Amino acid sequence: MLVGAQWGDEGKGKATDLLGDRIDYVVKFNGGNNAGHTVVIDGEKYALHLLPSGILTPGVIPVIGNGVVVDLSVLCQEIDDLQARGFDTSRLRISANAHVIASYNRSLDKVSERFLGARRIGTTGRGIGPTYADKMNRLGVRIQDLFDESILRQKVEAALSFKNQVLTKIYNRSAIRPDEVIAELMSYTDRLRPMVTDTALELSQALDRGKVVLCEAGQATLLDVDHGTYPFVTSSNATAGGACTGTGIPPTRIDRVVAVLKAFTSRVGEGPFPTELNDATGDYLREVGQEYGTTTGRPRRIGWLDLVMGRYAQRINGVTDFALTKLDNYDGLDEIPVCVAYHVNGVRHDEMPVSQSDFHHATPIYETLPGWKQDIGSARSYAELPDNAQRFVEFVEARIGARISIVGVGPGREAVIERHRVL
Ligand code: GDP
Ligand code: IMO
Ligand code: MG
Repeated sequence: MLVGAQWGDEGKGKATDLLGDRIDYVVKFNGGNNAGHTVVIDGEKYALHLLPSGILTPGVIPVIGNGVVVDLSVLCQEIDDLQARGFDTSRLRISANAHVIASYNRSLDKVSERFLGARRIGTTGRGIGPTYADKMNRLGVRIQDLFDESILRQKVEAALSFKNQVLTKIYNRSAIRPDEVIAELMSYTDRLRPMVTDTALELSQALDRGKVVLCEAGQATLLDVDHGTYPFVTSSNATAGGACTGTGIPPTRIDRVVAVLKAFTSRVGEGPFPTELNDATGDYLREVGQEYGTTTGRPRRIGWLDLVMGRYAQRINGVTDFALTKLDNYDGLDEIPVCVAYHVNGVRHDEMPVSQSDFHHATPIYETLPGWKQDIGSARSYAELPDNAQRFVEFVEARIGARISIVGVGPGREAVIERHRVL
């Protein structure tokens, strides 16, 4: 399993792609097209949202698990784009139990953010929150409903009888006609039919045959609806437990948990961020790291590496291996502060504070490490890294509770050092 250790955009897509030739299946288990993964292969950039990143490796079977919410137009567009660039997408499987993002939920996501004003979450506006809310509220539309028009009609009418009240009376928008929604959803049925299956069964049988399955998270630990910085989170479980509920693979069949940890921290959208840098260093890291949202293009908020968060991610996910990414983005710095604990109202915290308002008031305690001031982009073995870069890796490793098995030194597929084999 592969998860994000911070607030997303750690480089999960690249890490999955790196493991591509060792796996048979890759399953996306949560989120939807709020995710954005950039993978660079032979200098060519690929931006993936809904499809798991493993789709770029020939022979890997990509799966969209039941825990994902699917925007059908985005799905078809991504498949078309990849096919046009020469990739075979014919093996894609989609869970019959995955929920569909209907147009009314995209509208509700946008208007509710506007309505919240200063209290907004800063969502991606893709309809993710309202679609998961419908799922929990038992008002959702699932992929399997698209194959029975009368069932689909019942579900859409039931959802809209409630949603239209909200849209018209609270948000002062026009009501949406069920026929429009049904016609739009049904237009994808024929295309979807060959991909839709009982993915939990297929994955279980694949594991029985000794196949290797990688579960790939969207978002990350601190964006998890249970374990993240609620309410400034996404609406799904992006942590290790979500891989079980979102795929139907039981916990007893999971062998390794790889967490991707960026050498600094970024966050898109609102919410607390103790190590945030609102200065020239933050701007510098944003530029060298090209830290702009893959999905919305928003500049990402930037901060120093936070090891309280790293340890938390290790504990919540049961991380066995870390992939430390973007170490090369520090090449130009003289020194690198790393947050090792927080002060909250004069009290030292080595663990994430349980109270959200304490986290809002946390002041980082830093230890500062020397930089290496040289280009590490071409290093392919640990020994080729300058002493101070090795020192940085070992300093982090000693404080996050699991080994750092992979070190990223550039955006390309090849720009990586593997210290320990994770699979
Ligand atoms: P994801 O959402 O976790 O898959 O991450 P994103 O793709 O949104 O953002 C990570 C960005 O960092 C992408 O543009 C990657 O190409 C890039 N990236 C990943 N690993 C490295 C690395 O080790 N070094 C550098 N310089 N860039 C990296
Ligand atoms: P990947 O998979 C970074 C953030 C949004 C917002 C909050 C809720 O690329 O790491 P949502 O639209 O999910 O309801 O928005 O979550 N967010 C992400 N931030 N990377 C992502 O995905 C994100 N997916 C959602 O910016 O703050
Ligand atoms: Mg991303």
